[in-house]
Amino acid sequence: MKIISIINQKGGVGKTTTVINLASALSQQGKKILVIDLDPQGNATTGLGLSNTEKSDQTIYGILNGTMKISDVIKKTKFENLDLISSNVDLSGLEVETAGDRDRAFILKSKLTAYLNDSRASYDYILVDCPPSLSLLTVMALVSSNSLLVPLQTEFFALEGLTQLMKTIERIKVNLNPDLEIQGILLTMYDRRNKLSSQVEQEARDYFKEKVYQTVIPRNVRLSEAPSHGMPVLIYDKNCPGSKSYYSFTDEFIVQENKIGSAA
Ligand SMILES: Nc1ncnc2c1ncn2[C@@H]1O[C@H](COP(=O)(O)OP(=O)(O)OP(=O)(O)O)[C@@H](O)[C@H]1O
Ligand SMILES: [Mg+2]
Repeated sequence: MKIISIINQKGGVGKTTTVINLASALSQQGKKILVIDLDPQGNATTGLGLSNTEKSDQTIYGILNGTMKISDVIKKTKFENLDLISSNVDLSGLEVETAGDRDRAFILKSKLTAYLNDSRASYDYILVDCPPSLSLLTVMALVSSNSLLVPLQTEFFALEGLTQLMKTIERIKVNLNPDLEIQGILLTMYDRRNKLSSQVEQEARDYFKEKVYQTVIPRNVRLSEAPSHGMPVLIYDKNCPGSKSYYSFTDEFIVQENKIGSAA
């Protein structure tokens, strides 16, 4: 079992789209997946066909404010092997509400540890969809995760934000989670007609080397339509370029995981 956070403090770079479609592709291969929506926007929740207007205690908020256990709030999606802990806007109050708690960065980790110890949870992967900020919620994800997947939009400013993210990750490694690793960087919203896309790609590959996945996710309107139907694009239109790219990314991910597994 591995906990992977999909993280980038920049908004709208494809975090949620990556969570939903990696989860979907892995679940289609028989892997058992739990998605945790850790964003008050609740986009992963609606994108997987569930409601983000439900009672708060049945969500990640209920877990983090101490009223619920993880096993109480896991919901089945209509997709096989794919479960969800949903989110809603109440989660945005957590930072203020826990201001007096010195150990609050560890709440998610301790809840997950308790769950994994107590239950016979059989998930292969827990994927955490992070909000677009370096706030408490993101720190909770960094503290709880084994590794990080960073979607990088191939646009100007993308790399600037990444430098800041890398600094934060280093700080967390030193102080709170020494084993945290970067799983990889996934280039998203790539536009072949735009020279900037290939420039950003080149810079990212020069700097981050083999950490950048070979697969590049193109800009594809089908990817943006799928969430309004409450389903992964892999189910909405499995032959569109967006789907093909997410399948190819997942293949790369699995090869990488098998390598890590055989080295361990
Ligand atoms: N490759 C793509 N091509 C076209 N549209 C995309 C692509 N990836 C994501 N989108 C769309 O762009 C928007 C932002 O994507 P997404 O919600 O995945 O980003 P995010 O990083 O999770 O955003 P936020 O920071 O707000 O959580 C969404 O409307 C999504 O459907
Ligand atoms: Mg999102």
